[in-house]
Amino acid sequence: MSNLLTRLRKGAAATAVGALFATPLALTASGTAASAAEPHVDNPYAGATQYVNLTWSQNVEDEAQSVEATDPGLAEKMRAVKYQPTGVWMDRISAIDGNFDGPGLQHHLDQALLQKQDSTPIVLNLVIYNLPGRDCYALASNGELPATPEALERYKNEYIDVIADILAEPQYSSIRISATIEPDSLPNLTTNMHEPACVTSEPYYLEGVTYALDELSAIPNVYTYVDAAHSGWLGWENNAGHAVETFVKVAQQTKKGFASIDGFITNTANTTPLVEPFLPNVNQQIGGASVRSSSFYEWNLSFDETDWTADLHRRLVAAGFPASTGMLIDTSRNGWGGPDRPTAPSTSSDLNTFVNESRVDRRGHRGAWCNASGAGIGERPQTTPSGFPASHLDAFVWIKPPGESDGSASEIPNDEGKGFDRMCDPTFHSPKLDGQLTGAKPGAPVSGKWFSAQFQELVANAYPVITSADALPFPGGEGPGETPDPDPTDEPDPDPTDEPDPDPTDEPDPDPTDTPDPGDAVCSAAYRTTGDWGAGFQGEIVVTAHEPITSWTLNFDLGGATTTNLWGGQLLGSGPYTVSNESWNGYLSADGTTTIGFIGNGAAPSSVAVSCD
Ligand code: BGC
Repeated sequence: MSNLLTRLRKGAAATAVGALFATPLALTASGTAASAAEPHVDNPYAGATQYVNLTWSQNVEDEAQSVEATDPGLAEKMRAVKYQPTGVWMDRISAIDGNFDGPGLQHHLDQALLQKQDSTPIVLNLVIYNLPGRDCYALASNGELPATPEALERYKNEYIDVIADILAEPQYSSIRISATIEPDSLPNLTTNMHEPACVTSEPYYLEGVTYALDELSAIPNVYTYVDAAHSGWLGWENNAGHAVETFVKVAQQTKKGFASIDGFITNTANTTPLVEPFLPNVNQQIGGASVRSSSFYEWNLSFDETDWTADLHRRLVAAGFPASTGMLIDTSRNGWGGPDRPTAPSTSSDLNTFVNESRVDRRGHRGAWCNASGAGIGERPQTTPSGFPASHLDAFVWIKPPGESDGSASEIPNDEGKGFDRMCDPTFHSPKLDGQLTGAKPGAPVSGKWFSAQFQELVANAYPVITSADALPFPGGEGPGETPDPDPTDEPDPDPTDEPDPDPTDEPDPDPTDTPDPGDAVCSAAYRTTGDWGAGFQGEIVVTAHEPITSWTLNFDLGGATTTNLWGGQLLGSGPYTVSNESWNGYLSADGTTTIGFIGNGAAPSSVAVSCD
């Protein structure tokens, strides 16, 4: 049974990964045209496609497979969005090379070159997110770097410089890199300076963001978009004014001044609606009071992200930023469709009832940022969306990959520095939300990890509703599982007179005593224990290819020990264990290696025989 499963999965993986990596071998030849450097343009998204992160697509496909039997309609919707472009987060130093959350920056850039269609530009959405003292007003996304001078040096040398060096490599000059700069950092300096951690972080945020802008804006094909929170955070006049002062201050301390910033992005990883269709006028009077004075809006002038981007743009330009400054809105999770979405304005004459029944934002409080229950996928990524001229929108983008958690619902130990923030705990009445429950979905894993239940809800509650019209083709060519072009009109070999073997007199293997290739296996694998604490252990298996391969499968037995927690591969079966490659590490060149790791329960085995095919 497990063999059959292995074979079926391996076949599927081979097709998928084969299609994915079919071209890299030809890349050097065909890559020449693709790598012509482009001038820095006003809106990088104009006329461009966007890079599809196939690691995210694989999570979506896995999710579709898991709901297919019980809810085929939902599975179909998932598949319709699986090739939408999503942000690539450099959320720690190891993300640059790749870690158990996915492949590294160069892999994404190489894939972007493969996805690039002839002369059509391609934008890769990259997120710079690793400041010292990160996430100073919350705990869920605290990072690996503390707010110290030493950590700032590491941020500069081991993070920004390394990313900038890779992005500046000539072969990537034809990719437009849209860099979202440090979500929440400057907004925290604007509104949360009553929090001691933000006071401590302030100098590191200011210097870190300035450094990032200096290094990244020096690369012509990189476009910087500084994070500007969302309307429910910075929309009040006071906050908006202070935020713009901070943005101006940072811009002025960069080497290129205002020119180091191409634009701003709002709603990154948040769920604030793009538009509140039934509350178009913030001064509308209900029961003698304006809707902006309701408990939900607390006098904020910006009810949604089109309001906020318009207000922000006007303020930025007034403060000296060029009129060409562009805006992005993260619409990955701000759809608020589903059964609870109002379909008309309320008829109540009570102000708060009117607002609560009219708004599409179903949160109890606009400050509820963690895994908001009931949210849906929003507008699909789109270039220069029309209808909001005052917002100066470059694009709608999906920076937060839908399905990735904002923070764990309870404490979960991890080695990424992520804390447990009770804003992610559905049972918590938060003082930050006027004592209301957080509205967070239960059962969430650590931030950044895949959260099935959330993804299912986001797809079900998408607004606009997802239809087959949203489906994008497999990026850059033939899709996984599709039959390769069988073109019967293909010419046969143009030169039938070619000799088959040019030298039939070739000697056979000159040294027949050589150790034979292990059973002619295309790959081999070796196990080692990397940590052992008696009741459990951590192990890794290094896979080595003996010839170029597009997929691999391991079989091994852990004796009396077991594992459920494995990375770098897909666990297909246990007793014995069967593990196949992920979508991103199936391709190995001859002598190429990749490593899977796992946590074992029980005694660490002294040796493990692993077969690889
Ligand atoms: C997490 C990151 C993650 C990102 C995208 C953030 O909240 O802290 O680790 O990469 O979300 O899911």
